[in-house]
Amino acid sequence: MPDCLLALESSCDETAAAICTLEGDLLASRIASQIEIHRQYGGVVPEVASRNHILHVRPLVQQVLAEAGKTLGDMAAFAATSGPGLVSSLLIGTSMAKALAIAETKPFLAVNHMEGHLLSPFMDGQGPVRPCIALIVSGGHTMLVHVHDVGRYKLLGRTRDDAAGEAFDKVAKMVGLPYPGGPEIDKLAPRGDPAAFAFPRSFLDGRSLEFSFSGLKTAVLYELPRLDLKNEQTLADLAASVQAAIVEVLVEKLVLAARQCGEKLVTVSGGVSCNRGLRAALTARCAKAGLQLLLARPDLCTDNAGMIAFAAAQRFRIGHTSPLEADVDPNLSLVS
Ligand code: KG4
Ligand code: ZN
Repeated sequence: MPDCLLALESSCDETAAAICTLEGDLLASRIASQIEIHRQYGGVVPEVASRNHILHVRPLVQQVLAEAGKTLGDMAAFAATSGPGLVSSLLIGTSMAKALAIAETKPFLAVNHMEGHLLSPFMDGQGPVRPCIALIVSGGHTMLVHVHDVGRYKLLGRTRDDAAGEAFDKVAKMVGLPYPGGPEIDKLAPRGDPAAFAFPRSFLDGRSLEFSFSGLKTAVLYELPRLDLKNEQTLADLAASVQAAIVEVLVEKLVLAARQCGEKLVTVSGGVSCNRGLRAALTARCAKAGLQLLLARPDLCTDNAGMIAFAAAQRFRIGHTSPLEADVDPNLSLVS
């Protein structure tokens, strides 16, 4: 009796495959990262990404089947990220999952990448998915969502300009740190003084749940001519101050959203939720505010197929499948 689900993720520069049970327990998860390939260009080159997805996807499927001790016949469905992301990358994962679904005469599920991030804090035995305020902070998105149930999401606020991850990456690039800049700033920040530079915190107005990070980038740009970036302490102070400015806004808006909606459970997901400064500040602030906090395991925060398999399993359990004609959508929205 097929009791598992195989999912593929190829929305950007990571090719990933995972297998989970229909209850959402992760059995195997593998990622082939292309970070080293794209680093020389300072960002992701779409055509290079899709060519590498083609090279990696088949071996990854074989690896997760071996790791989980399963065969294709054990799969009840095949899933893949269908957006948002780079079209030429999304097509590789969805085409492969559809081909497997046709070959095995099993259903296909198109999964929204952001729903993968959104539900990831409920993995690892933290489920079932229940009402909460979710903050998603990735390279392309920063949003606050009121989660009522699987598939019932209300957008509370999003960024008006740069995403939090983008702010980390752009500032890091300006000071000569390698791509992606978020983890580099995370590494430097503990050695610096977070009060060394008074970078702006865009709260917009006291009640707004929208974000804006473009002012931070401009503030760093104005500071640059006065700085000696070869001085390690200066660079660490800058990293600590940038991180503190981003973290404070994220944490306070999450607490504000929970208060406004009367929810006691909050979750944070997406690549930026790996950030150690953010995790520590969230833990302290949520304890003070009497909120329960769920954070995904760090390896499930950045792009992976485990979260796609988990989201697909939640959907499959309530009877959702997708037609084989389902197209990819680079701008796929989480909330309609
Ligand atoms: O969720 P993700 O892996 O991919 C997208 O869906 O965008 O997020 C990638 C983003 C990048 O901007 C990266 O710099 C950021 O997450 N990131 C971090 C950390 N690890 C990844 N930002 C701050 N601190 C980190 N430790
Ligand atoms: Zn992502």
